[in-house]
Amino acid sequence: MKNIALIGFMGTGKSTVSRYLKHAFGMEEIDVDERIVEAEGRPITEIFANYGEPYFRDCESQAIVKLGNCRNAVISCGGGAVIRKENVENLKKISTIVLLTAEPQTILERVKDSDERPILNGNMNVEFIEGLMAKRRRIYEEAADVIVATDGKTVEEIVKDLMEKIEE
Ligand code: S3P
Repeated sequence: MKNIALIGFMGTGKSTVSRYLKHAFGMEEIDVDERIVEAEGRPITEIFANYGEPYFRDCESQAIVKLGNCRNAVISCGGGAVIRKENVENLKKISTIVLLTAEPQTILERVKDSDERPILNGNMNVEFIEGLMAKRRRIYEEAADVIVATDGKTVEEIVKDLMEKIEE
């Protein structure tokens, strides 16, 4: 199977879907954020706090370039990974890009108890999520080969939908 890259806003279920695809189809699971943490030897919150977001985005681009020759893999991307065009181009070369979506309220419910997302720390409210999502919506939609909505669905339903759409 061609690699699948999962993109979308924080809390759209990329990690959950990725884990499911790994177990259901024996795909290799690659988490771009995890690759960054491994390469930098510190958590994302610390990378943002010590070096700032542009540095984190550089790490993200490098991690994506390095994906190069993976096969039968599900690549779970951080929510901002497709902001840079070069990252979209590099992901396109090696994968079908699947955008997961969710309503701001659903996202808030899923992320509100975590403090591991620097972008949301101090901004944990539906208005902020709505605003950032509106800014990113076009970027996500233009990068996507396929779009799968996740609100009110189980992971099984999301994956079924995803598989049907990538086979079309
Ligand atoms: C980010 C999303 C995060 C992580 C970083 C920045 C973003 O990943 O890459 O905190 O800018 O949307 P998740 O989407 O997996 O939470």
